[in-house]
Amino acid sequence: KIEHKSGSVTWKSPSNIAIVKYWGKHGNQMPNNPSLSFSLSKSCTETKVDFDVDPSRNGLELDFQFEGKAEKKFEAKIRNFLTKNSADFPYLNHLKLGIESSNTFPHSAGIASSASSMSALALCLVSIESRVFGGFSDKKQFRTRASHLARLASGSASRSVYGGLVCWGESESVADSSDYYAVPIADDIDPVFNTFQDAILIVDSAQKSVSSTAGHKMMVNHPYAEMRYFVARSHVEALKGIMQEGDVKGFGKILENEALALHGLMMNSDPSFILMKPNTLKIIELIREIREEEEMPWYFTLDAGPNVHLMYPLEAANKAEKLIKDVLLPYTQDNTVIYDHVGKGPEQIKK
Ligand code: DP6
Repeated sequence: KIEHKSGSVTWKSPSNIAIVKYWGKHGNQMPNNPSLSFSLSKSCTETKVDFDVDPSRNGLELDFQFEGKAEKKFEAKIRNFLTKNSADFPYLNHLKLGIESSNTFPHSAGIASSASSMSALALCLVSIESRVFGGFSDKKQFRTRASHLARLASGSASRSVYGGLVCWGESESVADSSDYYAVPIADDIDPVFNTFQDAILIVDSAQKSVSSTAGHKMMVNHPYAEMRYFVARSHVEALKGIMQEGDVKGFGKILENEALALHGLMMNSDPSFILMKPNTLKIIELIREIREEEEMPWYFTLDAGPNVHLMYPLEAANKAEKLIKDVLLPYTQDNTVIYDHVGKGPEQIKK
C-alpha cells in the first residue's frame, strides 16, 4: 500500500567519456556490445527533485526546469521515459515531480550530456523510491537500481552512476557485468588510470552532434555491424589485462582505435555523417606528432561530435598543459579547453 509522502532530493552526477564505445542497441535500451568509460569529475549535472506521492492523485504531474527556465522538450523526454517504463514506477500515477536541473560545465561548450543529466535524475528517482517503499539494504543495491533506471533513459547514463572505470554490458572478462546495468571496476586496474586527465578541446561548440537516436539507428543493417560488435567485445577483454598491467601505451592504442572506428562507422553509414572538422584532424595529427617527438604519453578520443578528448596520466599534466597552450589551442574555438579528470562518481547533496 502506498502512503502519502513528500520531500526533496538532490544528486550531482558526472558525465563520462567512453573508452570502448556503445554504438548500436536493441529492445528496450539493450546494448549490442559491452562498453567501458571513465566518469569525469567537473562535468556534472545537479538535479533537485521535489516529489509528492499522493494515493488520491490520478495521473503523473511533471514540471522540468533547466537553469531556471521551463524546458518543455526535455520535460517531454522525461515523461516519455517514465510512462514507457511504468512497470518500474508503480507509484507513477500518484506522483507529482518538480525537477530543477543545472550543469557545472559551460552551456556554450557543446558537451551537453545525457549521461550526467539522466544519471542524476535516476539517482533522485531511486532516492524517492526508497522513501516511498522503504530503504535499500545496501549501497550496492541502490546504485544497481539507479544504473538500471539510468540505462532506460540513456544508455551511457548507466555508467555515470559510478566513479572511475565503469563497464556496462556483458563481457566474459568483467565479473558480474550485465546488459541491464553498469558495474564499477576501478579497483581492478593499475592506479595510474585513476589519475587520468581529460582535456576537452572544443573544436566547434555549435556543431550539432548526431543525436544518439539517429546514431544507434545507423547501426541497424550497417554492413560492418557484426564485426564492430566483435571488435568492441575483444577490446573490453584486452583492456582488462592492459589496464591491470598499467600499460598506458596499450590503453592509448585501443582508445584511439575506438574513436576512429566510431567515426568510421558514421562515415560509411547510410545516411553518411562526417562530424570531424578540419581542426579535429589537425589536432589529432599534432597529438600523434608530439607523442612521437616528445615521448608524451597522451592519446585522444572522440564522442559523436567534433571535440577532442585528450587523455594523459597526472604525472604528465604539467607538460601536457603547456603543450596544449602553445600548440593545440590555436586550433580550438575561441581557445576553449575544459580540463577535467577521472572522478569519484555521483554525490548526494543534503540541503
Ligand atoms: C558515442 O547513451 O547517448 O557517446 O541510449 O540513445 O541515450 P541513448 O544513447 P547515448 O549514446 C552514447 C554514444 C557515445 C558512446 C558512448 O558513450 O559509449
